[in-house]
Amino acid sequence: ATPMILDCDPGHDDALALLLAAADPRIELLAITTVAGNQTLDKTTVNARRICTIAGITDVPVAAGCAAPLVGELRVAPEIHGASGLDGPTLGEPTVPVVDEHAVALIRRILLDHPEPVTLVPTGPLTNIATLLRDHPEVAPRIREIVFMGGSTGRGNVTPYGEFNVAVDPEAADIVLRSGLPVTMCGLNITHQALATRDVIARFQRLDTDLARFCVDLMTFFATTYETVFGLADPPLHDPIAVARVIDPSIVACVPAPVAVELAGTHTRGATVVDLHHRTAAPDNANVAMRLDAEPFWDLVVGAVARLAPT
Ligand code: BDR
Ligand code: CA
Repeated sequence: ATPMILDCDPGHDDALALLLAAADPRIELLAITTVAGNQTLDKTTVNARRICTIAGITDVPVAAGCAAPLVGELRVAPEIHGASGLDGPTLGEPTVPVVDEHAVALIRRILLDHPEPVTLVPTGPLTNIATLLRDHPEVAPRIREIVFMGGSTGRGNVTPYGEFNVAVDPEAADIVLRSGLPVTMCGLNITHQALATRDVIARFQRLDTDLARFCVDLMTFFATTYETVFGLADPPLHDPIAVARVIDPSIVACVPAPVAVELAGTHTRGATVVDLHHRTAAPDNANVAMRLDAEPFWDLVVGAVARLAPT
């Protein structure tokens, strides 16, 4: 199994990414770390603990990380994820604890201790990962790959050209993309191929477990906000794609390309500038996810939820 750390900001789609990472036998999930993004750090952390509690994930440490981007103020997304960051289902008090160690310190310690290089999968703003690379450069050889959800080869979702995770902390994304490490970007161009259609939601419904009902409530709420904000009937389930890429790379087809983050920009701060046709002299620094094989993707996600809570 591939050793992996999930760095997330749950978040409806982060929740499904977490379940997939915890359940799939091809992943050895070493830690779940949280960052401010969809909601404040306190909320994303309690949400991660809630998801673990509901799914019976009790053997993976949960650690809280950075509460604000490297530069500027935090922007949260209540219009998409609600006031809690995980609106929709009834949310109980979590019993899974948060560990007494900062996420960046925990990731560093795991990287240095683990016998094999570890894959990092960030599905929120890249603040924790950039802080790690900036403050602890000795960990770089211990990172096998960074597979993040964020950016876009085309348009954005939080500004016309800015995708949320990159636009919330552009300097962090810039540090990751210029790290020289193997980086894979799963942006909006591919995540909009993972639509939680009515048929998909019905597959979860048929599992008929408490965890599946939790997922149905999450996706139903997510569908409502996506309809209101974007006029999209079926919401894209962004974050699990990065996890799926680690589980089975054949599901997420990528091409190498130069990717830069717009840090200035009058209208485009936080945009990812992807030179797909190599029109500049910039060297390739990322693998860019382009095409999703949607059927096996949904099989993975539904299968994970079935495996975690068989009753
Ligand atoms: C990303 O932003 C968040 O709202 C989602 O959880 C996802 O990680 C999509 O732009
Ligand atoms: Ca997210």
